[in-house]
Order: sequence, then C-alpha cells, then structure tokens
Amino acid sequence: MNSSEQNSLLDRYRQLAEMSRDLASTLDLNDLLNRIVHLACALSQSEAASILLFDEPKNQLYFQAATNLDEPLMRGLIVPVENSIAGWIVRHRKPLIIQDAQRDERHFNEIQKITKYKTESLLGVPLITKGKVIGVLEALNKHTGHFTLLDQELLIALGAQAAVAIENTRLFQQSDLIAELVHELRTPLTSLNNAARLILIDDLPAEKRKEMTELITIESSRLDELASTYLDFARLESGRVQFISEKFDLAELIYECTEILSSKVTDKNLKLTIQLSGELPPITADRDKVKQVILNLLDNAVKYNHPGGQIIISAKIRAKSLILRVFDSGYGIPSGDMNWLFKKFFRSKSSQHLIPGTGLGLAICKSIVESHRGHIRVRSRLGKGSIFTVSLPLKPGENL
Ligand SMILES: Nc1ncnc2c1ncn2[C@@H]1O[C@H](COP(=O)(O)OP(=O)(O)O)[C@@H](O)[C@H]1O
Ligand SMILES: [Mg+2]
Repeated sequence: MNSSEQNSLLDRYRQLAEMSRDLASTLDLNDLLNRIVHLACALSQSEAASILLFDEPKNQLYFQAATNLDEPLMRGLIVPVENSIAGWIVRHRKPLIIQDAQRDERHFNEIQKITKYKTESLLGVPLITKGKVIGVLEALNKHTGHFTLLDQELLIALGAQAAVAIENTRLFQQSDLIAELVHELRTPLTSLNNAARLILIDDLPAEKRKEMTELITIESSRLDELASTYLDFARLESGRVQFISEKFDLAELIYECTEILSSKVTDKNLKLTIQLSGELPPITADRDKVKQVILNLLDNAVKYNHPGGQIIISAKIRAKSLILRVFDSGYGIPSGDMNWLFKKFFRSKSSQHLIPGTGLGLAICKSIVESHRGHIRVRSRLGKGSIFTVSLPLKPGENL
C-alpha cells in the first residue's frame, strides 16, 4: 500500500468513527436502521445499501431498510435463507463480495422483479452480536470499479457496531414496554387482590359476594386484553411482523367487525350504520390486520360515545385508494390532544380515569395502516364527535 492509499484508508476509518458515533443516539429501530444503511452506502462508495433481518425461528430473512428503494413496498419482503446471497452470508457467517450478481447462481431474482432495482456488484457482511447472526448488511453497485477488501473491512467494522446498536434498541424497546406493562398491570391486579380478599370473609352479604365475583371476572378479562394488546404492539414495533397479502371482500369484513361489537353497541343503545357506496372490488391487504384496525376504531367509537349516540362506518373507492371512515357522535377530542393521539400509551386526560383502555389502539392502527402504505387521519369537534379516516392504496389491477 502506498502512502496516498494509506491516507485514504485513514480518512475512511475516520469517517466511519465519526459517523458511527451517531448510531448510539437513537433508540428507534427504524430510524437506526435507516442511519446504518446510509452510512454503509457512503462508506462503501456505492449506489445503495439495505438491511435484511434474520428471523431465526422461521429461518427467513426479510428486508427492513434500504436507501434507494420504495421502503414500504420492500419492508417485510421475504428472502429465503437457502437460495439467496444474503442467506449464504447468514449460513456461512462470512462477508462476501460479488462483482456480477446477475451471473451468480445464489442471486435471488424475485426481489429484483418486485423492486425493479438491478443489482450488479454487491458487498455483504453478516450482522453478528453475542455470537448470533441477526441480519445482513448489503452495499449494492459500487460507483466506480470493484468492491475491494478495504470496503469489506470498513463494512465489517460498521456491521459490528450496527449489530450492537440494533440489539440495544430492541432491548430498550422491550424494557420500555415491560416497564409500561408492569405499570398498567398494577391497577387491575390491586382490585383483583382486594376482591379476592373480600370474598374470603365468611359473613359477607351474598349481594356483595356477587358484586366481587363480577369484578374479578371483569378485571381478569381486562388483564387478558391488556396483555394481548401489548404483545401485538411490541411485535409491530420490533418490525418482526410479516404482512400477508390476500384478496378479500371488505364489506364482509366490516359486517364481521360490527357483529363482534354488536353487544357493546346494544348495551349502550347506540345506532350503528354501515354505508357502502356501490360495489366494492375485492381488496388485497392483510385481512387480519385490517380487521384489527376496524375493530380498534369501532371500539373507540363505542367507548367514547354517549348512550344513545350514533356510529357510522363507511367505505368507498376514491382515485386509487380505499377510503374507510368511522364517525361517532361522541365526546370529541380536545384540539391539544390531536397531535398525540396516535402515539403509544397516549390517552386523553378527560377519559383516562373513567374509561378503561391501554392507549395503544390507535398506535397499532397507525403502524398497520402505514405498513400498507396508507394514511390514518382524524377530525374532531369537542362535544360533537370524531371521524377517523383510513386510506389504503389499491394494488394495481384493483382500481376497477
Ligand atoms: N372516537 C374517539 N372519540 C374520542 N376520543 C377518542 C376516540 N378515539 C380515541 N380517542 C382518544 O384517544 C386515546 C387513544 O385511543 P386508543 O389508542 O384507542 O387507546 P384507548 O382506547 O385504549 O385509550 C383515547 O384514550 C381517547 O382519549
Ligand atoms: Mg382504543
């Protein structure tokens, strides 16, 4: 190596050190992965970079971040471990340089078909932490010339730091959720404990005993709900949820959801109307997840409504999107709360103590809708009611 090469090497190591200091400053997984791919791209002087995470139980890799591509389209795309370059890197736990990916028999062509991005040269390194492979970092299409061993060294160094940062973020997210979960579990556990003690009193009036038994039933089902909601959210937040696309009839799903909530609607004497404009074409999305969105929105429309109030759920196709609306004539939302509504654990002060909830429903909705490349919005007038609008882009061929 001559002295100018040595200088350039030093420069790039300095660049790596400076940039990767930045990695420790975020605890948001997607933000972190984005920073890593941009660093990888700059450092390896290549056109693009991406991260695939490894799901060990399922023995699959899936895309989680990329610099150049339509991310929502790519996120969650599955790459098989057996038949791909990234899979080779995971199985061999070794870096790999490929000068012509098109001619490499390990190249997994399906991704190229979906993303329309052509990989020519490729440099990939395994992301390893605590002896476990958690994913693969790939740099694609070197700007000039070939990927070198120096590029490889730099990417290995970045990969080592990135793996630790990813693991830390995941641990932080988990501990954050656990802390909140424990906090949320306290109140129902205390009332369960009190009720159980009361029941044990021999001469407790039968009426009181019945009341306590009912309370135990209600509180334990609330605990159950809390636990499963937290799990759903934790999974979504960790980016480890895969979305399954299927074709289904939305009208049918809406009826199914209203059926599930019908006893709550009747109990509160609410009037629920379904408005479907024209024939809805079958839509392609993750049915269970869309169901979760509809159920959450309807559940809120019931909970934050006055007895005898109104709920309207409507669906229509506009331009290339499906528009789903849930209107309620309930309490409405204070304007100061509007920006917080979709953040995890947020609950309006006004309803917090009177109405049970986790503050996760809308955060879950937002995460699911955005994973489908859609939007969720709300309009509301305090004391009058609210409208939540979800728009989901239709897939090609669906728009009538
Ligand atoms: N339809 C609605 N009308 C009035 N307030 C609502 C409505 N939907 C949601 N909110 C407010 O937003 C907060 C967050 O909703 P959500 O995430 O579903 O959590 P949860 O219902 O468990 O409290 C609620 O606590 C409530 O204050
Ligand atoms: Mg809710």
